[in-house]
Amino acid sequence: MKSASAFAVAVVAVVALGATAVVAQQDPLATRKALMKANNENARTVTGIVRGTTPFDAAKVNAAFDQWAETAQKFPALFPDNSKDGETRALAAVWTERPKFDAAIAKFAKDVADTRAGAVKDLDGLKAAMAVVGKDCGDCHETFRKPQQ
Ligand code: HEC
Repeated sequence: MKSASAFAVAVVAVVALGATAVVAQQDPLATRKALMKANNENARTVTGIVRGTTPFDAAKVNAAFDQWAETAQKFPALFPDNSKDGETRALAAVWTERPKFDAAIAKFAKDVADTRAGAVKDLDGLKAAMAVVGKDCGDCHETFRKPQQ
């Protein structure tokens, strides 16, 4: 019974992944913006915990790290040449300095993976992790994202 439901969950996950891949191909711009919005919501939750306005909740922290890992995994495919124009805040540097952009994604992915165990453990671990991961968000935006208009 248990393994049957685990299988069902796995199937649903695979189907969901497939659907996301199709959406990504159709509209990489909308997909990357949606991922970034979710990044931000999670960052807000986690920042609340770090500041002490929200109690520490390992499940919420874990969900945030899950979502950031997913973003990092999908990001490299979401900036094809034909997505430079339109409603985007991505700077031209994404395409003219692609190796640097890919390196920033890879660093974000690695830092999210490396700091997760400490972050879900307790508040101090989360603070240490966010000093690293939060800086990755900011560093990448500084070089590759237009300021808010
Ligand atoms: C490797 C680079 C990179 C990293 C790391 C990164 N971002 Fe972004 N982010 C971007 C780019 C590029 C855009 C612009 C996307 C567009 O408009 O096409 C963006 C856009 C955004 C936006 C605006 C979304 C919108 O609808 O216009 C938010 C909010 C955001 N990022 C939050 C975050 C947070 C929070 C993190 C860290 C947890 C993060 N980002 C990590 C590159 C990055």
